[in-house]
Amino acid sequence: MDLNTADIAPRYRTILDQCEPFIVTFPGNHSALDLAPLGLKINPERIYDPTRLASRNVIDGLHKLDAFSFGGQEMLMPRWVLFDCGEFPGVVFGFGRRAAELGDDLRRAYDVLGSAKNDRFVPLSMWVAIRNAEDGAWFGHNLSSANFVSNHPLPGLGTITKTLGVKVAKIRKQYGATQWDSTSINLHLALGDMELLNAYTPAHTHVETFTYRIEVDDTRLVAPLLPGWSRPREGGDRFIDADNPGDIIRLHEDIEAGGRYRLHRIEMRPGKGQRLWIETQSPVPRP
Ligand SMILES: CC(C)(COP(=O)(O)OP(=O)(O)OC[C@H]1O[C@@H](n2cnc3c(N)ncnc32)[C@H](O)[C@@H]1OP(=O)(O)O)[C@@H](O)C(=O)NCCC(=O)NCCS
Repeated sequence: MDLNTADIAPRYRTILDQCEPFIVTFPGNHSALDLAPLGLKINPERIYDPTRLASRNVIDGLHKLDAFSFGGQEMLMPRWVLFDCGEFPGVVFGFGRRAAELGDDLRRAYDVLGSAKNDRFVPLSMWVAIRNAEDGAWFGHNLSSANFVSNHPLPGLGTITKTLGVKVAKIRKQYGATQWDSTSINLHLALGDMELLNAYTPAHTHVETFTYRIEVDDTRLVAPLLPGWSRPREGGDRFIDADNPGDIIRLHEDIEAGGRYRLHRIEMRPGKGQRLWIETQSPVPRP
């Protein structure tokens, strides 16, 4: 399935007009990947090998982006984690621009001020995915966008980055873990039904993290890029308030007891934590 860029919503067309897609991965992975996701060809110059010196600047840029996005959340990635767990075995996909095309705020943030650095390619978004042992299954390890740093210059950047990243890796089952109060949940939710595998995760740095699985459906994945798409505003038979640990623990216990649930929509509550509406797929079995 190819995407005709003339058909996509204006915010995404702007991103494709202004930015270039890039990939960081070990070349041994190329044959397993789609290097023209939805028909968008990735320029060979923007396919970076993490074992080569020529990739150093773009990888420095990824770490700048990670620092803006996750530094405040105690989830900053050491360089070896990105190399061992993402760039080498998996894939980093994103969009970037030459430094000369950026405003001074972003150039400063990425440390690429000055005409000598005009040609530096600056990664403005990244989705890092790691292959699971399970066939066709990948884990979404990191998603960041420079919209978080700068005043949202490219709305939709996070969404189109993850959509195309899923296509690059040819993912059939996408797993991920995110915090109940994360501003990214609406983005993940747009791309498929999020089946909740747990609600509370002591194994993670942040216990109030849930783990999810999306069975990728191409039509659903691409739908948010098309004009007229909108999020559901109603529905769901149970909710979790992100700032209520009791809701989270009760849902987790119900999942461990055999209940099955899907995330449905997010309700923003001014001055309070977001409310996440859930659909019960099957209730906890009665003894
Ligand atoms: C989450 C993140 C990647 C989103 O990037 P982005 O480029 O703003 O993404 P998009 O513009 O495609 O936004 C997609 C949706 O996310 C939601 N969203 C984005 N920023 C938001 C914010 N600050 N507050 C609430 N919702 C937000 C909105 O629902 C938005 O859709 P809309 O524009 O139709 O309303 C970016 O904010 C980021 O890097 N955050 C820090 C790192 C992080 O938490 N990553 C997620 C880990 S799972």
